[in-house]
Amino acid sequence: MPDSLAPQVVKPLLEGRFGDPYLYEEQTESTQLLLLDSGFPEGAVAATEHQTAGRGRLGRRWEEPAGTSLLASVLMRPPAGRSAPELSLVAALAAAEAIEEGTGLRARIKWPNDLLLDERKVAGVLAEMRGDTVVVGIGINVNQRRDQLAHDARVPPGSLRAASGRTHDRARLLAHVLARLERHYDTWTSCGLSLLFADLRARDVLRGRRVTVDGEAGTAVGIHPSGQLEVDFDDGRRLIGSGEVLAHDLR
Ligand code: BTN
Repeated sequence: MPDSLAPQVVKPLLEGRFGDPYLYEEQTESTQLLLLDSGFPEGAVAATEHQTAGRGRLGRRWEEPAGTSLLASVLMRPPAGRSAPELSLVAALAAAEAIEEGTGLRARIKWPNDLLLDERKVAGVLAEMRGDTVVVGIGINVNQRRDQLAHDARVPPGSLRAASGRTHDRARLLAHVLARLERHYDTWTSCGLSLLFADLRARDVLRGRRVTVDGEAGTAVGIHPSGQLEVDFDDGRRLIGSGEVLAHDLR
């Protein structure tokens, strides 16, 4: 089988309800746009080989050479009261575990949505809300060579191939991500983050590091059970719900 995210390659690997329906375009603006305002049921997944206007957090672009990355979005309708930022962490945990399963390397989470291997960003999560619907986008740099990675990034970029020294099957990786995401999502919708918190904390790369949050320096205590980031600033300990966190020694 060629390395592809086409339905005939991916669908036989799927076991749960995430991926039904499975939408696929060889190239598209953004997989997020295939699901936002779509009316598809929960569990719908959109995937592509290449995005021409991939969306990142904070209005940034997400770019990749065609055929190198895992680019997928999942539509969810969480119960009222569950927050989209928490869901981003749930997805980050699922992706980190799937990366570890595929590479054998320990993937860590840089709050709120980055995944790091060897302190290089290999993946990002973007949660976008429309009414009661959240579309969670996951982008993983899988088979990029080092010279194919963007160099203007805030955290040095990496890929699974660069970290592990070999190429990876993107379809199998997507199946692992979706299986874990579905399991963690079900846990989260019934119990919140409590049962996932220990695993999130164990992968928390910011814990104990000097950070700057929207220009203010402090020391990260780590991911809080609420899903926010707890930081010690000069004037005391505070919880951060959103924003740009720079870790001084990750740059
Ligand atoms: C970030 O780190 O800023 C989040 C990046 C999220 C990228 C993924 S790729 C699949 C989905 N479609 C998009 O346009 N963005 C997300």
